[in-house]
Amino acid sequence: MTGEDRAQGRDVIASPNIWHWPGVYEEENRAQDTRGAVYAALREAVDWAGRDVVDVGCGSGFHLPMFARTARSVTGIEPHPPLVALARRRIEHLDTATVTAGSATDMPLPDASADLIHARTAYFFGPGCGAGITEAMRVLRPGGALAVIDLDATAHPYGEWMRTDLPHYEPRTVEAFFAAQGFDLRRIDTEWAFPDRDTLERVLGIEFAPRVAARAMRETPGTTLTVRYRLHIRRRPHGVELPQPSASLRAASVRTANPEDPGELGDLLGLRQLR
Ligand SMILES: C[S@@+](CC[C@H](N)C(=O)[O-])C[C@H]1O[C@@H](n2cnc3c(N)ncnc32)[C@H](O)[C@@H]1O
Repeated sequence: MTGEDRAQGRDVIASPNIWHWPGVYEEENRAQDTRGAVYAALREAVDWAGRDVVDVGCGSGFHLPMFARTARSVTGIEPHPPLVALARRRIEHLDTATVTAGSATDMPLPDASADLIHARTAYFFGPGCGAGITEAMRVLRPGGALAVIDLDATAHPYGEWMRTDLPHYEPRTVEAFFAAQGFDLRRIDTEWAFPDRDTLERVLGIEFAPRVAARAMRETPGTTLTVRYRLHIRRRPHGVELPQPSASLRAASVRTANPEDPGELGDLLGLRQLR
């Protein structure tokens, strides 16, 4: 199966903003987090200097050059063919960067080949992304980290606009999901700074339905926005430290026929999630 085939799978989540308006999304990326607070928090958690980085759902590759500055290698993975082409063009002058068609659920990468997998507002949106977490744990080296970065819909004002636009989105459910899957959570306040109000309006126009975008314009007096992010990190364990099993757990482990399958004991200890 080629990377292009993998990328056509049904796990692809439509991203109308960047799919339909890649130019405006580029303006949005340039305006986001101008002080680099998210990169700083990520670097504090996982130092990727001299390491192998994967940016999954890399879109047009906006973040690839930043990783390429210090990483040993950076691989962008993206399922939407026009964005694969844009990302490849962006990194063509960088020896250590490549872009491959693929999906978070089926990365065209060997086992234990990456130290950091970065996913920014891509695929890992909460319940339903378990296949991507399992795949990331396969691709990470022991001790490596999956960093999921998304917007914090609980924070004023951007989060209020998000919740108005997506009434069924429940931030607490999403956060509880990542916590249950063993992710840490850090919240990061950033400033988005736009060159002018026309750019701000264009960006709000690709992120929200017209009525919410108009409200967001009315509620933003100048050209900056305060936007909070969530940074969730989960490491692939070096090994699993097993507690002394009780008699019933020992009995369950004896019933495990397949050594590749953690079986009931694995279920009880949550090992299936760790794979
Ligand atoms: C909102 S964009 C973010 C792009 C990029 N991370 C950035 O920050 O500029 C979300 C991206 O996720 C991609 N995507 C959708 N489904 C995916 C999947 N199953 N695996 C990996 N990426 C996916 C989309 O094609 C899109 O490029």
